[in-house]
Amino acid sequence: MNFAVVLAGGIGLRMGNMERPKQYIELGNKPIIIHTIEKFYVYPDFEKVIVLCPEQWIHHTQNLIQKYIGKQDNILVIPGGNTRNETIMNAIGYIDEQYGVDEDTIIVTHDAVRPFLTHRIIEENIQAAKQYHACDTVIPATDTIVVANQDKQGIFDIPDRTIMYQGQTPQSFKAKMLRELYDSLAEEEKDILTDAAKICVMKGQYVKLVRGEVFNIKITYPYDLEVAKSVLGGE
Ligand code: CTP
Repeated sequence: MNFAVVLAGGIGLRMGNMERPKQYIELGNKPIIIHTIEKFYVYPDFEKVIVLCPEQWIHHTQNLIQKYIGKQDNILVIPGGNTRNETIMNAIGYIDEQYGVDEDTIIVTHDAVRPFLTHRIIEENIQAAKQYHACDTVIPATDTIVVANQDKQGIFDIPDRTIMYQGQTPQSFKAKMLRELYDSLAEEEKDILTDAAKICVMKGQYVKLVRGEVFNIKITYPYDLEVAKSVLGGE
């Protein structure tokens, strides 16, 4: 079984002083999170679309789904966790409780604030997760990547740009494997991990790369919202 896991558990600190987390900001005629949920909802191969958000926003999120998508049994809203990875673990825990997690359970995890993902990206994620057990969506780095010294004052290295990529989402995994790898990490390791694919990398699990899209942007800063409006205009 395949599950879409929409990560909306954050509060969007870098977006600045907002009365609501950035995933609820309107983009065009509907909130960002609805654009994202719709992309998964119309994809035929998901058992359920699981949306994880802060506890106090669950009711609001359900109301938005009702308003923009209609009464929908295939979309579930549950609480996120304190970190992005804990949010993913909540999703796996929920899937396990409700449906049982086995070797074939695949989760396609995606940032709620990346509303422009495509059918192709989802499809290639599912294929790659089936075949390789883990995958990450990336685009080739356009800027040269500069690695700083420990003190962040000078250059340590400038790696070969041809093997540098920018990470996007979705990131997709065999759920059972990801949970086992995460559980095997020490608490200090869990604290420094912001990226789910890195759980695999740290534990020696191969992660297949899937080609993303330049327009599959994440809305992080107010500037990104302006970019998103132009992308939407061109959709
Ligand atoms: N996220 C999550 N659970 C968390 C933290 C983040 O599901 N505990 C989600 C966010 O809602 C977002 C995605 O992960 O859709 C990417 O994270 P980011 O852009 O960093 O979002 P925020 O944590 O909300 O933003 P900030 O770091 O600026 O506070």
